Amino acid sequence: MASLPSQLSARVQAVAGIEPELRPATRPEFGHFQSNVALRLAKSERKSPREVAADIVARLDVDDLCEPVEIAGPGFLNFRLRSSVLAGYVTGQLADPALGVEQAEHPQRVVIDYSSPNVAKQMHVGHLRTTIIGDCFNRVLTAAGHEVLPQNHLGDWGTQFGQLVEQILVERLDPAALDLVEAEELYKRAAAHFKDDHDFADRARLRVVALQSGDEETLRIWRSLVEVSLAGFNTMYARLHVLLTDEHLAGESIYNAVLGPVADELKAKGVAVVDDGALCVFVPGFNAPLILRKRDGGYGYDVTDLAALLHRVRDLKADRLIYVTDVRQGDHFAQVFAVARMAGWLPDTVSAEHVGYGMVLGADGRPYKTRDGKAMHLATLLDMAEEIASPPIALAAIKYADLSNGLNQNYVFDIERMVATTGNTGPYLQYAHARMTQVLARAAAEGVLPAHEAVTVLDEPQEQALALLLSGYGDVVAEVASTLQPHKLCAYLYDLAGTLSVFYERCPVLRSEGEVRSSRLALCAATKRVLAAGLDLLGIEALDRM
Ligand code: ARG
Repeated sequence: MASLPSQLSARVQAVAGIEPELRPATRPEFGHFQSNVALRLAKSERKSPREVAADIVARLDVDDLCEPVEIAGPGFLNFRLRSSVLAGYVTGQLADPALGVEQAEHPQRVVIDYSSPNVAKQMHVGHLRTTIIGDCFNRVLTAAGHEVLPQNHLGDWGTQFGQLVEQILVERLDPAALDLVEAEELYKRAAAHFKDDHDFADRARLRVVALQSGDEETLRIWRSLVEVSLAGFNTMYARLHVLLTDEHLAGESIYNAVLGPVADELKAKGVAVVDDGALCVFVPGFNAPLILRKRDGGYGYDVTDLAALLHRVRDLKADRLIYVTDVRQGDHFAQVFAVARMAGWLPDTVSAEHVGYGMVLGADGRPYKTRDGKAMHLATLLDMAEEIASPPIALAAIKYADLSNGLNQNYVFDIERMVATTGNTGPYLQYAHARMTQVLARAAAEGVLPAHEAVTVLDEPQEQALALLLSGYGDVVAEVASTLQPHKLCAYLYDLAGTLSVFYERCPVLRSEGEVRSSRLALCAATKRVLAAGLDLLGIEALDRM
């Protein structure tokens, strides 16, 4: 079902010739939507904006949707939807499992690169953000009718594995018997050993070569390390209730065999040049080059991302590439995209976006660190939150805090504020949902729940306001699917919960009667479902009781 503003907008555009850019009215007396289309046309039509507005209104046929259109101030068009239309739309939403979210006209194959933790290291606060944000994108794009291909670009390859494997051999450890926490301890010992023991460092370097050339024993130890790490990551994914599974694993190691050819091809195309023994690409406007092959012949993060991009476009046939990482990797991805475009690997028909997120700060406003100065472990954060709230509420608190500000902003991890059921928090939305569940349950118990759910009466301004907001749900989801700004969905849900509570205060539901009561119960049911669906898109569980 096309949203009401989009139906209205199409009609106005047909007459005005340009997109009317409907905006929600700034005040109730201006109706529901406003357009400045006449002001924008006035200059080229050499008429006053009010004349242009009058022309448009004279030719416009929207009587079936709106009350008579008004011209206001310098020439704004004010639209007020008919109550019957609004009521009919919400009734339609109640019968629509998608609640008014439309399926994309041109579904895309969307690769989302997210989570991507590193083997032999516990996930930290940064991984919390990418995992939650990526999960939300996955849900929203899927709901909007796209095909999502998550890619968990695990850090499972590189020079650190030379050190890790050597350290395991030195200590005669059984790598399969480690857990992730122990693997991280091993990592620290290996790194220290590498720093102060030349012999060890040399052996570690040779070990990297052995790994890259497929030496059996080395690979076996490496695989064990990957497996114990994965078990740890999967525990976290289960705790976080995210959609990632082993099926989405696409770690750096899978590109090992193509890194040489990728580098060579960029050299042959004249995109890459040898600089001081290393094969590099200098992208205009950036300080440091991308390094495709180091002086010692080794391959690293940059070239791996080029190989991954090529695979995603060529083999996975992606139409859209999304990368969710820390904002500090912005330059890296801008360069990777630029190089891929130069090489002809990223055609104009495929978009590539890096979504950078800000840092999680402690109460002191500084990056959230452990006592030894490392980024705070994700497990610690979850433990802290679950100490003061039950797991579904703790998760709602954390996810909502993560998604409700502009993603590139830092936010303070203030768990007391985040779990509160008042204010702009996840638990507040869960509470609004639980409250409606209770109201509907009571109506069912009293035998007054209508058999056919329909919104038929919108006489009160609070009923109108709620219905208008409900009818905007599909558009908000579509907007987040295109702009990747989940805070807009958060703001919408917060607004919805607030409007619901004003409605519930002013308009008695169970204490009213007849058609008014059934219509209000239908409004409650629609709001409950939109809250549940919206929370689900944020990865948050809608609770029935709190
Ligand atoms: N493993 C990296 C990290 O923990 C993130 C990888 C992001 N994805 C990518 N394709 N580079 O910082």
